[in-house]
Amino acid sequence: MYNQSGYGMNKQKEQMKPEQVFSRLAQLASRYHQQQGQGDYVVYLEPGELQQRLDLARESQSGDWEELFRWVESYLHYAVKTGHPGYINRMWAGANLPSIIGEMVTALTNTSACTYETAPVSTLMEKYLIQTMLNLVGFPHGVGQMTTGSSNANMIAMLAARNRHCQSVKEQGLFGQQELFAFVNEEAHYSLDRAANILGLGSDHLIKVPADSRGRMDARALAEELERISKAGGKPFFVTATAGTTVRGGYDHLEPLLALRERYSYWLHVDGAWGGSVVFSPKLRAYYLPDLEQADSFTLDFHKMPGTALMCNVLLMQGNCSMLRQALSAGDESYIFREGEDGSVRDLGTLSLQCGRRVDSLKWFLDWKFYGREGMARRVEGYLKLCEYAQAQIERHDVLEMVVPRESFNVCFRFRAPAGMDAAGLNTAIRERMQQQGRYLVGTGFVKGELALRLLITNIRVGRPEIDDFLATVARTGREILATA
Ligand SMILES: Cc1ncc(COP(=O)(O)O)c(C=O)c1O
Repeated sequence: MYNQSGYGMNKQKEQMKPEQVFSRLAQLASRYHQQQGQGDYVVYLEPGELQQRLDLARESQSGDWEELFRWVESYLHYAVKTGHPGYINRMWAGANLPSIIGEMVTALTNTSACTYETAPVSTLMEKYLIQTMLNLVGFPHGVGQMTTGSSNANMIAMLAARNRHCQSVKEQGLFGQQELFAFVNEEAHYSLDRAANILGLGSDHLIKVPADSRGRMDARALAEELERISKAGGKPFFVTATAGTTVRGGYDHLEPLLALRERYSYWLHVDGAWGGSVVFSPKLRAYYLPDLEQADSFTLDFHKMPGTALMCNVLLMQGNCSMLRQALSAGDESYIFREGEDGSVRDLGTLSLQCGRRVDSLKWFLDWKFYGREGMARRVEGYLKLCEYAQAQIERHDVLEMVVPRESFNVCFRFRAPAGMDAAGLNTAIRERMQQQGRYLVGTGFVKGELALRLLITNIRVGRPEIDDFLATVARTGREILATA
């Protein structure tokens, strides 16, 4: 029999056949999935205590499957149940069952999505995904790729813009070039700062444009900054519009940014990591992202609102493969990549920053076939309705208040602190107490200097009763803290 436990393992301990291993795994997976909405969202322990309980340095008999499953069980026991309605901390929660199947099959077949010969089906699925999304977004003749997430996608868009503007940069670097400047909403995601660092621009060359009262990039302020930089001899080459800012959920208005692009001919990228999911709903797209089809690039995370298992992203661009290749390919690839007979891209790795690439297309594909665009649209519209409901409940509450008006999917609110008390401290204490009790994990963020609890609803297990319970728990916890203060 094929020795599953590997070379030199202790044969006596090899008590399970592979089929028994799989059936044990299936039982565990099914029980975990069924129970993940029950009880507390986590068995919360401080790192020192968890370290002791896990006893990671414990001696293990090699080849002992029973022991291996004990490790798996303790992992699951202490894991955060991200599919639990108490987990409203981040932009993702749990994962869709079709995509979980996709992840399992991906692990089973363990290959790299860089070449057709190692990943034939995944290559075709990824191409299908890219074309489907290009058509949906309105870049039908464009190009795209799946990346490791929107941080990476934002950087690749900036890289493509830099290399388009400055054709010699690939060979000569930025030495001796005109100074390049990129522009973002001051409330944009930090991945843009990292991209400016990685690409050699430096953070002083990433201009943070003030946000208006609705959290949108102030187009007038952008125009002033563009003019100031150009007059000083710099080159504005890249503007990122955020479709759904991280803390506040603001959508930068594309129309004025497109008008300014006429004048300054920069690359207009749309970071839709979070709020880009409105593209699935014609109604929401018309409201939040009109003119998207005129942008130069767009990124969207399927692992956020659509609920596909982490990580699952697509970056889409106007233009063709040679543009993406110009930005991303370098060095001698002849040992690995082949072209199609007509010179077309056969191996997707040639358009990527990575060599080995995880297969992310299968989980997307299964979700897409299972839910369809309409299913995704219903989900996103449903989340928005729940956000409206949460806001209404907060506004009529005696101890809760909105920190800023809601723009989209982010409900930024807090427990109202008594006069003279530090509201940020009180709300941080509320968050920590709920976290440690295993009841709720909710994110926080600063909006215009004020700390807000940031309610994000991206879990299909969350409905009105769960929102009511969450808000009641925040209110009760706040009152308890005040009573003992
Ligand atoms: C607006 C925005 N852009 C980019 C990102 C980064 O996405 P990822 O986690 O996929 O790298 C985030 C993450 O929260 C985000 O909110």
